[in-house]
Amino acid sequence: MSVIDYKGFGGMPLSADVLGDDNDPAVLLIPDVGQGRLAWRDVADALVLSGRRVVNLDLRDATDSHELTSHFEDLRLVLAQMGSRPVVVAAGRGGWIATRALAPDGAHLAAGLVLVDMPVDEDAIASGVAERLAIPTLVVRGGFSPAQCSAVSDAFNAALSIGEYADIEESDLALASDRMEALLGQLLEFLERRQPREAMEFKAGSDPRTLRDAMGCFATGITIVTALDAAGAPVGLTANSFTSVSLDPPLLLVCIANSAGTAPVLREAAHFGVNVLQIGQQPASNRFAARGEDRFANQPWAPGQTGVPLLGSSLVSFECERESLHEAGDHFILVGRVVRAQFEPHRDPLLYFRGKYRRLHFA
Ligand SMILES: Cc1cc2nc3c(=O)[nH]c(=O)nc-3n(C[C@H](O)[C@H](O)[C@H](O)COP(=O)(O)O)c2cc1C
Repeated sequence: MSVIDYKGFGGMPLSADVLGDDNDPAVLLIPDVGQGRLAWRDVADALVLSGRRVVNLDLRDATDSHELTSHFEDLRLVLAQMGSRPVVVAAGRGGWIATRALAPDGAHLAAGLVLVDMPVDEDAIASGVAERLAIPTLVVRGGFSPAQCSAVSDAFNAALSIGEYADIEESDLALASDRMEALLGQLLEFLERRQPREAMEFKAGSDPRTLRDAMGCFATGITIVTALDAAGAPVGLTANSFTSVSLDPPLLLVCIANSAGTAPVLREAAHFGVNVLQIGQQPASNRFAARGEDRFANQPWAPGQTGVPLLGSSLVSFECERESLHEAGDHFILVGRVVRAQFEPHRDPLLYFRGKYRRLHFA
């Protein structure tokens, strides 16, 4: 995360947190008047995880919250200084600022607008601001009493029928303990439709890196596959190509690169272990993927009933009898019959997605 100072109206410095990758489509977060950018912090983090670049702006301190002119001049200046047209997401009276800033010629400044719990803006209704909004807009209601909600709704319904360009969607999100997650879901869905990310493409014959990136869009857990070599020493490697295959009989598989140092041992092993890692085992995942490390040096393990090394404190350790082996390009598929599984249901998994470790962030 970095902090950037934009120049607002009259040269006023306005600080913003900037998060995420420069190449991702941008989202500008505006807090309610009187709130700082901390209010959007969790949403900002979640948007970055879903591939957005986030600018989380602080409004200037205003003694009179109804004095909106400098606020919306600020916002227009910030938008003009941003490298690309963001979707603007505004909370509460931040929505008043955003609608006014974007009503006249918003399409040049922003790709979309999301208004979350905006109170009724009498002045804007009177002056027809909403109906002049010419950008895709999502109005999220439900954070207030039903009467307030329906007043905001009426204003935008009027805009829908009167406005020549109005492109307004509405949604109702009742106050509930999981409202923030529901809001995030709606926000992400709106962004995917209205501000799509550029699709990448792999075609047969393209470089393997692009294929790897395409495969990396499938989120997985991480395992360490283990066995004993001919001398009885433990071997193991990190693998995320794990899949459950069958319940009856109980089968699973992992795909092992022919080039892996442990491949000859795993090709011959009558038994092998698959240890699914929990969030605290990221160092083990790194160690079992790195060359030249003594992988078992500081690694607590114990032999299972078939002798295979099982790693202590894993989320689950499967002990398998080799069922079959299938050649598959530069990998082979090792299918195991589960003879025993020891698991600890209360730990969180270590996840892997787009080449990075991740953890669960939705409860
Ligand atoms: C998250 C992650 C997942 C991996 N998944 C696999 C896999 O499914 N199959 C595989 O052969 N290698 C996989 N690797 C790579 C191996 O762990 C790595 O090449 C390791 O050094 C192989 O060790 P070895 O050469 O001693 O067998 C993965 C690595 C990481 C970091």
